[in-house]
This record gives sequence, structure tokens and C-alpha cells, in this order.
Amino acid sequence: MDLRSMTERVTLLGAVDWHRRLFDSLIPLPEGTSYNAYLVRGSEKTALLDTVDPVMSDVLLTQLSSVPRVDYVVAQHAEQDHSGALLQVLERYPQARVVATPKGKGMLVDLLHLDADRVDVVVDGDRISLGDRTLEFIYTPWVHWPETMLTYLVEEKTVFTCDLFGSHYATSDIAVGDNTQAPAVVRAAKRYYAEIMMPFRKPLTRHMERLSAYEIARIAPSHGPVWDRPALILDAYAEWVSGPPHNSAVIPFVSMHGSTRALVERLVADLTTRGVRVHPFDLTVTDLGDLAMALVDAATVVIGSPTVLGGAHPQAAYAASLANALRPKALYASVVGSYGWAAGAPKALVAAMPALRLEILDPVLVQGKPRAADFDAIAVLAETIAHKQQALEL
Ligand SMILES: Cc1cc2nc3c(=O)[nH]c(=O)nc-3n(C[C@H](O)[C@H](O)[C@H](O)COP(=O)(O)O)c2cc1C
Ligand SMILES: [Fe+2]
Ligand SMILES: [Fe+2]
Repeated sequence: MDLRSMTERVTLLGAVDWHRRLFDSLIPLPEGTSYNAYLVRGSEKTALLDTVDPVMSDVLLTQLSSVPRVDYVVAQHAEQDHSGALLQVLERYPQARVVATPKGKGMLVDLLHLDADRVDVVVDGDRISLGDRTLEFIYTPWVHWPETMLTYLVEEKTVFTCDLFGSHYATSDIAVGDNTQAPAVVRAAKRYYAEIMMPFRKPLTRHMERLSAYEIARIAPSHGPVWDRPALILDAYAEWVSGPPHNSAVIPFVSMHGSTRALVERLVADLTTRGVRVHPFDLTVTDLGDLAMALVDAATVVIGSPTVLGGAHPQAAYAASLANALRPKALYASVVGSYGWAAGAPKALVAAMPALRLEILDPVLVQGKPRAADFDAIAVLAETIAHKQQALEL
């Protein structure tokens, strides 16, 4: 049976979803994903931490056929990719108690129709003894739902983090291991952070601070491999969450007849010669995860869009609303674009990013095909961006 031992008492269960290519009907998964569940066997009691996505519940239930007794099912997060097989697991173990935060209990009851009588509520700092192993619960709301918690296995200095520090990365390895795989997993974790965790930088800062008080030998998330060298992911998160923005600009753009594209190409060249790293994304062919990842560090966002039906091109509007939802640390924004008779894109795009505290730099708008003076205006915009970013000493 596919039971993989992490330590003498901790077993990695769950499923690797090698071929899944879309998550939440939204997020591309270029490298698949996994739904990890962990079995912790103490001298007296056994706990299962998280379950799996319902599409792979059979895998978990088959694994559990060799596990005679489960006393606790710890539901760290109520989202279905981890709680979706919970009811089936409870049916298998009628005596098992569900352990969740107060909010988690309510959500499991509401979302999955779980019987409330089967849930034991735990609050921050509560402990459950499994005999010679102890679980301590750390309430970490908003990573990325309001009910989320982590579980610290005291005797083994292992912290189970569910989505936090996770990566959509399918591998047959239990842990990240040596450097042959590490850069790819860190990159997958950055993509995951950008898509799922970045909107919650404020609570994340608090949770990271709290975690620094714990001695951590390994981090076991519920997507992707275990971080057996925790500093790898903790240092990366510290930088993504709290580090200063980089001297880089993200330029998502779309162009129907090539005019906006010509502006963007010139902007890319003009920023490059001024030492600003650029990340242009043609939105018609862009993997939105790549765009989200570039937003993690960028100091500036420039959206390229023609005017369509009085507003922005829908692809550009989508990029703006994505940036608004993901709350990156960018400080400056602008718009470049072409129009036929009356430019409406800039106003629409700026209005689509109300959550970002951005200084808006003068847009560059051209009627039809750009002229020499329009390219001069692009050079001015590039100079302004480079100058502002240099002033930040990035
Ligand atoms: C479907 C469609 C709707 C448009 N709506 C507007 C509009 O509301 N206002 C405007 O000034 N131009 C409008 N235009 C004209 C474009 O903005 C113009 O052709 C522009 O130069 C295209 O830039 P591009 O080469 O980057 O695609 C529209 C064009 C299309 C194809
Ligand atoms: Fe989640
Ligand atoms: Fe998840």
C-alpha cells in the first residue's frame, strides 16, 4: 500500500494528482499538485491530519484500509481539496472525533453538512495528547480562509501547515531534499504564494513572527513535498511577504491591431536600458500564474490596453482586477494604449484597482498608430519609473 513513512510515527498519505492542469477552475497547474494527509501515531492514539480532494478520495480510503483505528481527524482547513473526503473517512471510523477551530467547525457543518456533534473545537495553543506524541494547534486565520490553523507535533518539531507554504508540485518524493529539486519546488511555492497567499500579507506577517518562536525541523504542507530544510521556504516567504519591492516592472498588455503592442515594445526597451527588469505579458497567451508570480516583487505595474467599447479591453480589465485582488506590493502604476476616437481604457483600469495604494504615473495614450512624439512620451514614462525606483534604492 502507498503509505510513505516520514518518520517512525508520521506517515504521508494522500494523493499525487500528476495530470491535473486547473485548480479552482481558475489557476493553471503546470506541474500538477498533491493533496497530502498525514497520519500521526502516538503510543495511545492516532490522528489523521487533513484528507484529500474528493476526486481522489478512493486513494486515501484504500490507504486507510491498512489503518485499523483513527481517533482524531484534524481538519486544519475547511476547503474541499482537504476536507472533501472527511465524511467518508468519518464513516470508516465511527468513533473518530473531528478537531477544528471554532470557525472551522461552523464552516465544515455549513459547507459539507458535517454532523456538529462529531467535532471537538480547539483554540490557539490547545494541545491533544496521543500518548507519547502531542499535537499543539496554532490558530492562523486568513491563510487563506478565516478558519485556518496549523498543527505542531511537539516531540518531532514538525509543523503541519495545510495550504501555507504549499506548492502545486507533483513528485514521488516525500521531501524537497537536496538541490536537484529545490529550485523547482521553491518556484512552484512562489507561484502558489502569488495566487493564494499574497492577498493576506498582513496576517502572514503576524503568523511568520509567531512561527519564529517555534523550533521547526520540518514543514509539512498539504500540497507539494515536505520542506525538510525549513529555512528554504521560511526565508523565501519572509522576502515575498515583507521584503522591499524589486527594481522591476510588470507589463500585462493586449493589442488588437498592433498599436498598443508597439508602445509596450518601446517601453520594454526603454526600461531595460535604464536598468529596470521588465516582465511583459501578452495577455492572449499568458499563464496567469506567471503574471501573479511577477507581481510578487514588482515596484511598478504598467497595463497596455486599447480602448474597446469605451473602456479597457476585457483581457486588460481582467489583469487589473486580478492585480487588485492579489494585493501585490507595487507602488506605481500607469497605462499605455491606443484608441480610435476617445480613450476610455486608463480611467477604467485605474478604477479597477481601488484596493492598491498606487501612485498613478501619467498614461501614454495615442490615437491609432504611435508617432515619434508618442515614443518620446514612452521614454519619459520609462525615465520616471526608473527614477522613482532608483530613489527607493531598490
Ligand atoms: C471591438 C472594438 C471596440 C472599440 N471600441 C472603441 C471605443 O469605444 N473607443 C475608442 O476610442 N476606440 C475603440 N476602438 C478602436 C481601437 O481602440 C483602436 O483601433 C486602437 O487603435 C486599437 O489599438 P491596438 O492596435 O492596440 O489594438 C474599438 C475597436 C474594436 C475592435
Ligand atoms: Fe485552500
Ligand atoms: Fe489547498
